[in-house]
Parts: sequence; C-alpha cells; structure tokens
Amino acid sequence: MKKRKRPGKGTPRGKRAPRRGASQAAGSRRAAARPFAPEVRVSPDLNLFYHDAADLFLSEARKSVYATGRFTVALSGGSTPREFFALLSREPFRSEVSWEKTLVLWGDERHVPRDHPDSNFRLAWDHLLSRVPVPRDNLYPMSDGKGSVARAAAAYEKTLKSLFGSSGPPRLDFNLMGLGTDGHTASLFPGKRQILERRRWVVGYRVDSARGERISLTFPVFNRAELTVVLVEGEKKADILRRVLEGPSDPPRYPVQRLRPEPGGRLLFLLDSPAASKLSRKF
Ligand code: 6PG
Repeated sequence: MKKRKRPGKGTPRGKRAPRRGASQAAGSRRAAARPFAPEVRVSPDLNLFYHDAADLFLSEARKSVYATGRFTVALSGGSTPREFFALLSREPFRSEVSWEKTLVLWGDERHVPRDHPDSNFRLAWDHLLSRVPVPRDNLYPMSDGKGSVARAAAAYEKTLKSLFGSSGPPRLDFNLMGLGTDGHTASLFPGKRQILERRRWVVGYRVDSARGERISLTFPVFNRAELTVVLVEGEKKADILRRVLEGPSDPPRYPVQRLRPEPGGRLLFLLDSPAASKLSRKF
C-alpha cells in the first residue's frame, strides 16, 4: 500500500535529521504552544448526534482510501460509542465504508482479556466489528490482559511502528475519543505524568481512580491525527464541557485540553444538546 509522505518532510541538505526523540519532544513543545481551540458542533437530538458522527467517519474513510488506499482508525471505549458503532454496522454505512481497507486500532484499552465486559475491544467487536466485513487481520487490539501492562504498551508501540514506520508518531486518519466527567480522555487521567509523555507513543500503567490497569496512546500520537472527534452526549457531561471549553486552560487538571492538532489536523467536539446545555456560546 502506498504510504502517504508528509509534505516537506525531507531533511534540509547538510543538516542532520534530528534524533527522533528530539524532534518528537520539539513537536510536543509546539503542541503546548498551540491554543486548545476545538471546533464545536451541537446536534439537536441524539439520533442526529450519532448520524453526524457516522457521516464524519464515512467521509473521512472515503478521503483516506482515495488518498492513501487505506483508512486508519483509533476507537475509544466507554458507553457513548456504543450506538455510534451499532449505526456503522447498519446500512447505509455497512455497505458504504471500505471495511476491507480499514485498519482498526484503539486509542486506549483496559488491560483485561478481550472477552472481559470492560474491554474496549469487546465493546467494538460486539456492536460493530463482528457485524461488518472488516478482515480480522485488520484488527489491532491493544491488550489480551496477559503479562505486564508496560510490556503490553511496548508491544503495541512496536505494532504501530510496523504499520506506520518509526520516523515519527503515526498519523491516524480518524481518531475517536470521549470525555470523562473528570476531564480525562482516552486513558489519560488528571494529574498523571502520562499526560506529559513526549517520547513514547503508548503508555501502560495502573490507574487507581479507574480501578485497574490502562493502556493509552499519548498526545504526540493523538495530536497528529487527521481528524479527532470527541463524542460527548448527555446532561451529566454539561458541567465538565463548560469547564473544559469555556474555563481556563488547565491540562494537568483537564487532560482533554492537551488535544492540540498539528497544522492540517482537525479537532471536533461533537455534542448533543443536553451535553451543550451549560455552554454560554450557542452553536
Ligand atoms: C475508556 C474511554 C474513556 C471514555 C470516557 C467517556 O476506555 O473508558 O476511552 O476515555 O471515552 O471515560 O466514557 P463514557 O462514554 O462512558 O462517558
């Protein structure tokens, strides 16, 4: 498959290519310098909310397959994506998406067996992946719950390098994320040093507040995605959304505020009306 080259990627003549870690750390510093300024779209009802998300998925799939011959996706967990997955498994999306060219990864995972009720893989498998013609070889689950969580994270980073090369963080085409009522996203939680990770693409660690071990992509990866959709629905998210979108910038407290896409990337908060109900700006 033809890999897409980032424009202007070459090293100027006579200059040494910066060490990967150095350029990645510089990339993270640049991210910190960019404002947290997501697009925000509010869908009038829950049915349209999920259809808007599915339409975005389909349009990104068509663009990516046309440009590169494949569509790379990172899925999230939690309860919000369930209906989004189910919608994609039904017509017209089931026939419209080029599932055979879709590579399915995860933005985060619980370090549990894949058939565990808490598994993000199982969530996607039950509601989407078992119902669409995506080749099983195109699925890249993050964990089977075996061995150490750090080792599982390191293994996933190797998987990413085999799929995207190792010159820099992978550029995902479609990155699905959610928002916890504490401001976490993926498995990057308030006050955790993993929020600040600049070199590694994947981290694995114990999260007491989440009562278990988690594996998560890091912000250097999330911030390179072509399109990140943060899917947030329900009245219970209204408070955190107001703090995150209209309050002061405080990423250690609200990790989702570290989402600052590289130039050319898009960050969209897709909300339903109840979730947006406490925002002063009307969208
Ligand atoms: C996870 C998710 C997590 C989720 C938020 C929101 O593995 O739990 O990736 O980041 O998106 O916790 O979860 P809800 O959709 O259940 O509100």
